[in-house]
Amino acid sequence: MTRFPKKRNSKKEVLKSMRVARDQDVKWEKGRAFGLIYHINEEIDSLLKDAFMMFFSENGLNPTAFPSLRKFETEVVSMTASLLHGDEKVTGNMTSGGTDSILCAVKTARDWARDHLPLATTPEIVLPRSGHPAFEKAAHYFGIKTVFVPVGDDFRADVDAMRAAVTQNTILMVGSAPAYPHGVIDPIRELAAIAQEKGILFHTDSCVGGFMLPFVKKLGYPIPDFDFSVPGVTSMSADLHKYAYAAKGASVVLYRTPEIRRYQMFVSTDWSGGIYPSPTIAGTRPAGPIAAAWAILNYLGEEGYLEITEIVMRTAQKIQAGINAISGIKTLGKPEMSVFAIASDNPSIEIYEVADELHERGWHLDRQHFPASLHMTVNYMHADVVDEFLAALTESVDVVRRPSFRKVASRWVISITDFLVRILPETWVTSIMEKFSALLGGGGGLPQRMAPMYGLIGTLPNRGDLKELVLDLLDGLTREE
Ligand SMILES: Cc1ncc(COP(=O)(O)O)c(C=O)c1O
Repeated sequence: MTRFPKKRNSKKEVLKSMRVARDQDVKWEKGRAFGLIYHINEEIDSLLKDAFMMFFSENGLNPTAFPSLRKFETEVVSMTASLLHGDEKVTGNMTSGGTDSILCAVKTARDWARDHLPLATTPEIVLPRSGHPAFEKAAHYFGIKTVFVPVGDDFRADVDAMRAAVTQNTILMVGSAPAYPHGVIDPIRELAAIAQEKGILFHTDSCVGGFMLPFVKKLGYPIPDFDFSVPGVTSMSADLHKYAYAAKGASVVLYRTPEIRRYQMFVSTDWSGGIYPSPTIAGTRPAGPIAAAWAILNYLGEEGYLEITEIVMRTAQKIQAGINAISGIKTLGKPEMSVFAIASDNPSIEIYEVADELHERGWHLDRQHFPASLHMTVNYMHADVVDEFLAALTESVDVVRRPSFRKVASRWVISITDFLVRILPETWVTSIMEKFSALLGGGGGLPQRMAPMYGLIGTLPNRGDLKELVLDLLDGLTREE
């Protein structure tokens, strides 16, 4: 256990230890991460850092003390609303990220429903299975039930199935533009029409697409309507720290009318510390992300974002074409922008093994399931690494294609563990899975090679056991080693 430091350390020493720790991280500067990081170049970094540092100490909690921050935030919100075809009534707030915006929208829907949907006694959200877990998290926090609806063969929300899932308890329907796993846009117009007909709220989650799709559309690509131009869309989320390339900790949540947004807000009138109003979930709010977001939107403007978007689209298309030219793997569905998934179409190529091989070559791709696939969010910084990535991918697929002792052994371990967890009492399962993880080199965290673990996880019959196992892993990952 690290003890609280007794003595001072020099700045040099402190920063040196941090640099050493950082050496272990994925080399995102070299375009090695597909997701997590959105980056343009040093010039933009320098603008973002200058803006961020100018407001390093300020606090977004109290707009009366910092009118500058009030100006930045309200202008960022208005600029975002206008980009997403909102009229003057559309209003919202900046939050710390997509999850935070979604938490706000779900809490707002719950409280709105208390006044407007008296029959919804046990509130439910209806969303496609591809909807981001932030909705499940929000429902978990706010005492709401999530009703997940399977997506169609094209990975998009199934309109008829979504309609059938709506009951008198439904307070909110959700569609994504696009959904993270496969990068496809749900049929927002059709879904929002159902919500409108039923008199309930509808949220378009454009956390990942909000600052990309409007420019993709302007460049002439076919993008269906997904924003406030669609009747029935009552709230939206759009992350500045994704395709707006702002500093991390910045997203926007928007509402069709100020009346709906009012349900998001909180005020304590009788606190001995005075009247305490709070528009979003956070209390103290870092000013850096607000300032940096304002700076980059004004610096790039539509002109800059169009240029960047064009490069990103060309890069994404080149990568997709390269993937589809490698025998044994393919991209899934028909993604509209620069987010997509890679799967195997050859039983001898295990896609999670491909991820492990890529990992060994320094490339980080998240594993997805149902179906087994790898995630790719392509952004500006990947323009220079297309050939390098495709070469690493080709090599990885070739390695996985070749029979090896490791492959045979890991399949045996999966089969035996799979058999055991099916026949043994439930209480034993978690402990077996933990041993399995340790056997793979987990040691309280995640194993180095994840393929066997993921292979098993996909087939586990009892998802409750899986939850326990993942909570154990999370516990290990968020504790000192
Ligand atoms: C569609 C979608 N919604 C919500 C989120 C959550 O955003 P954040 O990680 O900023 O909380 C993400 C993140 O990737 C996303 O892709």
